[in-house]
Amino acid sequence: MIGKVISGKEFSELVRAKVSKHVDQLKNEHGIIPGLAVVLVGEDPASKVYVRNKGEQTKAAGMKSIEHKLDESTSEKELLELIESLNEDTSIHGILCQLPLPSHINEDRVINSIAPDKDVDGFHISNVGLLGTGQKSMVPCTPLGCLMMLKDHYGDLTGLNAVVVGRSNIVGKPMANLLLRESCTVTIAHSRTKDIQEICKRADILVAAVGRPEMIDENWISSGATVIDVGINRIPHPDKAGKSKLVGDVDYESAVKVAGAITPVPGGVGPMTIACLLANTVTACCRANKLPEPDGLGV
Ligand code: GUN
Repeated sequence: MIGKVISGKEFSELVRAKVSKHVDQLKNEHGIIPGLAVVLVGEDPASKVYVRNKGEQTKAAGMKSIEHKLDESTSEKELLELIESLNEDTSIHGILCQLPLPSHINEDRVINSIAPDKDVDGFHISNVGLLGTGQKSMVPCTPLGCLMMLKDHYGDLTGLNAVVVGRSNIVGKPMANLLLRESCTVTIAHSRTKDIQEICKRADILVAAVGRPEMIDENWISSGATVIDVGINRIPHPDKAGKSKLVGDVDYESAVKVAGAITPVPGGVGPMTIACLLANTVTACCRANKLPEPDGLGV
């Protein structure tokens, strides 16, 4: 079997087109422009690229984008004061503080200082609790993107065996909660799980979010399973000396031989994350203005 390739790149273009359409409608019918503020502290090179892409795509969708780039030496107090001012700014509907933060700043304190209704990352403890209890919340962008692709592929996920490999707060745990909400039977596996390969092999849906390059191959995957690869790992290029290559947590060439459907890296989950950030910003804007939420941009 050669599995179907689920293109996050193509799917994210559809999501972004829906976002732009809704943004136009908000402007034309209500005079409202959704606004997203992104805060970056320090010089982490990967974070700088993510923040630049987030800003560009926010503007491309017709929304207001504000970037606050703060020096590495910024104190926690200064950062909290900035977030407080963004919480009070009615032209800003979404606030994202790019992680990781410098080690002298307490990430939990910063995340939990963002107004929950503007927390477009869905990381605030209130949103974590609301998602965990099946209530309306802001949903973390990467798991939201994975779920959108899975729902598009299957329609209904009821009763499917889902295994999530990885237990991070950003992906693993919210992904498991979302799949549970869709009535999947959910297992969270991680670095300490016994017989992890056998557990993965029972999955109809296998979500890999461990950050270990190409850990999962055809021997971990049941024939016909759907494999969602969240990993983005840079490794030395096997054929080109001095060059690097992006790979997922799944060995794609091996897995594609047995999977029923699979997301590639790059071009799979990655592009969906920013698309879902834009979707969350529109959703937050609609909620703030007591307007109906856009169709097809949430779960
Ligand atoms: N760093 C890596 N991924 C993310 C994310 O989804 N949101 C934020 N705020 N920081 C990140």
